[in-house]
Amino acid sequence: MRLKDKRIIVTAAAQGIGRATALAFQKEGAEVIATDINLKKLEELKSENTNIKIQHLDSTNKEDVEKFASTVGVVDILFHGVGYVHHGTILDCSSEEFHNSININVYSAYLMSFYLLPQMLKQKKGNIVIVSSAASNVKGAPNRFIYGTTKAALNGFVKAIAADYVKDGIRCNAILPGTVETPSWEGRVNLAEDPVQARKDFIARQAMGRLAKPEEIASMAIYLASDESAFLTGTLNLIDGGWTL
Ligand SMILES: NC(=O)c1ccc[n+]([C@@H]2O[C@H](COP(=O)([O-])OP(=O)(O)OC[C@H]3O[C@@H](n4cnc5c(N)ncnc54)[C@H](O)[C@@H]3O)[C@@H](O)[C@H]2O)c1
Repeated sequence: MRLKDKRIIVTAAAQGIGRATALAFQKEGAEVIATDINLKKLEELKSENTNIKIQHLDSTNKEDVEKFASTVGVVDILFHGVGYVHHGTILDCSSEEFHNSININVYSAYLMSFYLLPQMLKQKKGNIVIVSSAASNVKGAPNRFIYGTTKAALNGFVKAIAADYVKDGIRCNAILPGTVETPSWEGRVNLAEDPVQARKDFIARQAMGRLAKPEEIASMAIYLASDESAFLTGTLNLIDGGWTL
């Protein structure tokens, strides 16, 4: 029960890392409010674990996030997992695609933090965990131009919040996964010209020769959300099977 008495908002909780993390948080005793734009999949999560509360929330919609934050009550931890992978180089990335990735990957983190921080500050304690990526300012990955750019921005975002509120009981840390076997990753593999080869290439880039399971990312999330990591803030935590060795 490493998260007993903690009230946690999880975004992007309908599938992949967010889903595994919502389940893991609940198992550790947290009160979990799982949010996503995919209500059908949130309902599936709820039927798997009825202790998890679910809420439709578009983390890129200012009015929705503001309303959610003003009605949700006291929150101890925000785990923010919303993200989108655009495939391609700078020349494959139109202005619309550029702004779309900034909106989903960076603006969503801004909105969630902007509206949840004030009540955390009122409590003089709060904890924000952002899902970034090894593909960022840490590692240049082919065909991840705008994705890597937005994840590098999130790494700066985490450090800025950590620095501004370190004296106010607020912590902010990032998780930087390598390749994780999630439904959206499967989708990207299946879109490749040669999905069999694409799968092999994704696996090979991790020195450990395998992908991460979402549950392995959730283990790191439990640590960062719990008081065990009380002395950590502004940290960028790689969990990449040796991709960046
Ligand atoms: N899968 C990987 O290999 C990998 C590696 C590194 C980092 N990440 C990051 O981890 C996070 C989760 O990735 P994943 O692969 O587990 O997830 P995923 O792509 O499988 O699922 C993402 C979830 O986000 C939800 N979502 C999308 N837009 C939203 C919005 N505007 N508001 C609320 N919810 C929204 C989707 O409905 C979906 O349930 C992302 O930020 C991703 O960039 C993933």
